[in-house]
Amino acid sequence: MSIIEGALNKANKEGQQLNKPAEMSAELANKLEEKINVLNKVVPASTPVVPVVKEQIVENQEIDELDWDKLSELGFVTPGDSNTQTVEEFRNIKHPLVSNAFGKGNNGIQRANLILVTSSLPGEGKTFTAINLALSIANERDKKVLLIDADVARPSVSNTLGIKGSPGLIEYLEGQDVKFADIVHKTNMPGLRVIPAGKQHKHSTELLSSNRMVMLAEELSKRYPDRIVIFDSPPLLAATQAEVLAKLVGQIVLVIEAERTLQSMVMESVEKLASCDVVLAVFNKTQTSSEGAHYGYGYGQYSH
Ligand SMILES: Nc1ncnc2c1ncn2[C@@H]1O[C@H](COP(=O)(O)OP(=O)(O)OP(=O)(O)O)[C@@H](O)[C@H]1O
Ligand SMILES: [Mg+2]
Repeated sequence: MSIIEGALNKANKEGQQLNKPAEMSAELANKLEEKINVLNKVVPASTPVVPVVKEQIVENQEIDELDWDKLSELGFVTPGDSNTQTVEEFRNIKHPLVSNAFGKGNNGIQRANLILVTSSLPGEGKTFTAINLALSIANERDKKVLLIDADVARPSVSNTLGIKGSPGLIEYLEGQDVKFADIVHKTNMPGLRVIPAGKQHKHSTELLSSNRMVMLAEELSKRYPDRIVIFDSPPLLAATQAEVLAKLVGQIVLVIEAERTLQSMVMESVEKLASCDVVLAVFNKTQTSSEGAHYGYGYGQYSH
């Protein structure tokens, strides 16, 4: 019996327990850690062979003005913020990710500066987390972030930020005379660039798994090693797109809606992320006040 079969048999035996919502508990933390470690030991990190990209990455000079008042009302980190609860929460979430990407924490992780934000189900808070993570990192002096909306079927980054949604990633992947510079938006937060998802496309899954997408990821990690690239993605258990994207990045933030998403679903998601070196589980919508009014974050770091 392989290690994976063993882990799955064990998980099946624990099926009863897994059929309950995920909550931030030591019990779930142990299960997640065990699973991620087992999977990471037997599945080597993917290292696709990538041809050299000739195209120079240059950028547009136009600047999109983000409406900070509106974004602040929606709960996002904005430039003046320093001690709000959200700033504090994202300081803790970003710290291990940035440290893996640039700092001493990088233990040979491939493409550590590429981070995918995903979750098991729709509505768990992926986009909210991806945008706040990007804003929070870009808000630091000397840090640069590129936020890419890779939820191409149901994009919402550009709408939320108030920028034009097309052309974007899809047009670039189609490759018809759309250059990288045509899809990157500079913003009034100097460290933040955004790539919208682009137009709806019936072959978007194929485009996301195309060689051009692999080359783009490789290019972004090699040529922008000083920049964090954050991908917002679709849910893992609804379609295959997020799983495909997970193979391109070095780190994953798995958003888990506390008290709602079943533990068995979290486990299934973790299995789909086996190719990635680092998975950071983030519990969203935890109740942090006695009235249960606050919509906060808790986190567990389950990297290896
Ligand atoms: N911690 C939070 N605090 C406040 N609002 C939140 C939080 N997390 C999520 N939300 C809100 O909940 C809603 C759903 O979140 P979001 O759009 O980020 O989910 P999603 O996982 O990206 O969904 P989809 O799968 O549809 O893309 C949004 O209105 C978002 O602003
Ligand atoms: Mg979303």
